[in-house]
Amino acid sequence: MTIHRLSPETLSAMEGAVGRNGIAVEAAGMAKYLGDWAGDYRGNALAVLRPGSVGEVQALMRLCSGLGLGVIPQGGNTGLVSGAIDSAGAGLVVLSLERLNSIRQIDTENFTLRADAGCVLQTIKDACEAQDCLFPLALGAQGSCQIGGNAASNAGGVNVLRYGMARDLILGLEVVLADGELWNGFSGLRKNNSGYDLKQLFIGSEGTLGIVTGVEVKLFPKPAQIETAYLGLASFEAAIQLFNRARRACSDLISAFEIIGAECIELARLIDPGMAAPVSAPVQVLVELSSGPGIDLDGLLAGFLADAMEKGLVTDAVLAASSVQARSFWAIREGLVEGQARRGYHVRTDLSVRISDIPALIEQARRFVANEHPGWIPLAYGHAGDGNIHFNVLPPSHLADAEARTRGAAITAGLYDTAVGLGGSISAEHGIGRSRAHEFWAGLSPAHRRMVAALKNALDPNDLMNPGCLLPATETFP
Ligand code: FAD
Ligand code: LAC
Ligand code: ZN
Repeated sequence: MTIHRLSPETLSAMEGAVGRNGIAVEAAGMAKYLGDWAGDYRGNALAVLRPGSVGEVQALMRLCSGLGLGVIPQGGNTGLVSGAIDSAGAGLVVLSLERLNSIRQIDTENFTLRADAGCVLQTIKDACEAQDCLFPLALGAQGSCQIGGNAASNAGGVNVLRYGMARDLILGLEVVLADGELWNGFSGLRKNNSGYDLKQLFIGSEGTLGIVTGVEVKLFPKPAQIETAYLGLASFEAAIQLFNRARRACSDLISAFEIIGAECIELARLIDPGMAAPVSAPVQVLVELSSGPGIDLDGLLAGFLADAMEKGLVTDAVLAASSVQARSFWAIREGLVEGQARRGYHVRTDLSVRISDIPALIEQARRFVANEHPGWIPLAYGHAGDGNIHFNVLPPSHLADAEARTRGAAITAGLYDTAVGLGGSISAEHGIGRSRAHEFWAGLSPAHRRMVAALKNALDPNDLMNPGCLLPATETFP
């Protein structure tokens, strides 16, 4: 049963749990929690709850479960799949973790960190750096996304090929369950092979099984040296060959291998008109190597690139002469993402295939767009070292927004078919949210569906945790 408004008694009970500043019900106070970064989704909520402690999260969940009121956990609200936004108006409350934002402990002896879920990723990275440590999760949204949101969405980003996704970096979680009970899954242990690894259920669960209130992660020594190069290549085939060779020739010290189709560069210029790619080749690669001291990293990269140029694999190469120049390379990569949002509505995907299938994916996707949606502008870029391509498509500039969105849905479906046809995934790293829930569910085998439904029913029998996200709202789960 959908709840359409909160009674005065409920509101005063919520206020009693979190204080007057911990709850917003007016449109102005709720606005920033109800719209996404790209301007694609606009949501509704009966209230935005902002607990200031784990105890307050528990009190709110006890209240909500007593009322049968659905809850959307929200981190930094940087997700790209409408996981933290309910545009269907399903009578839910948003529970923002933003006030739970302390780093609880950095243990440099054991290279671990514990933080509240609402801690912003950049804050964690900076605190680690100050202790000569590295927390390697790195993504364009790191100035706003929260570590709890990273855990809940199993975030990827630009360093996955070396350090893995959020799942690979998490040692423990603290979670408030749907009925308000607290599960403390912290141990500080790197090995703990005692039965089901319950934290894994919550990583990537997108708020559908519980509310992450604390996260314990692995740290690494801060690299003593980083070498960055911006390369030009003739084709995506050449880029993938280069990646394969680089892994062997550079002793697997590659920390990023980002691929950028040259057509993306003008999007970065929408953010900074003065921005210029250091090379003009049709396919561009941003490669980064990092290591501790005592390794001739500069010589390793320069030697590898000289050889690759001699073999004709790389046509242009610019090695960053300073950290400022390296930063300017990364600004191109970040700018092209922001530039797309600036351009307005566009088809955004997050496809993954086997690394060796990346050229086929891009070639087939480009052909599909050119043949069936002429005038639309394809962009291909992504984390080539992970087989993850964001194949996005801009509508022709004259097209009205409503028509673009209708056509965009058909283009998205065609691109999903292309990836699935190659044995790939429709969600490499962004998750399922509400925007991919139907496609996700439709692609599961009966056995897979049964296990997903069984887990959901076991942990959230009344479907209070982020209803409509990940599992489509229209499905019944036996
Ligand atoms: P939100 O957007 O608030 O929430 C995401 C999901 O997690 C929702 O379903 C929400 O209900 C749930 N959730 C949030 N917090 C909690 C919690 N504490 N407990 C339970 N559930 C919770 N993603 C990548 O993987 N790789 C990238 O390279 C990348 N680059 C990006 C670049 C830009 C410019 C932007 C805007 C986004 C990018 N993203 C990327 C997507 C996004 O930043 C990540 O998915 C991020 O991990 C989301 O974190 P958040 O705190 O903003 O979560
Ligand atoms: C990126 C985000 C969009 O790779 O995933 O820039
Ligand atoms: Zn990405």
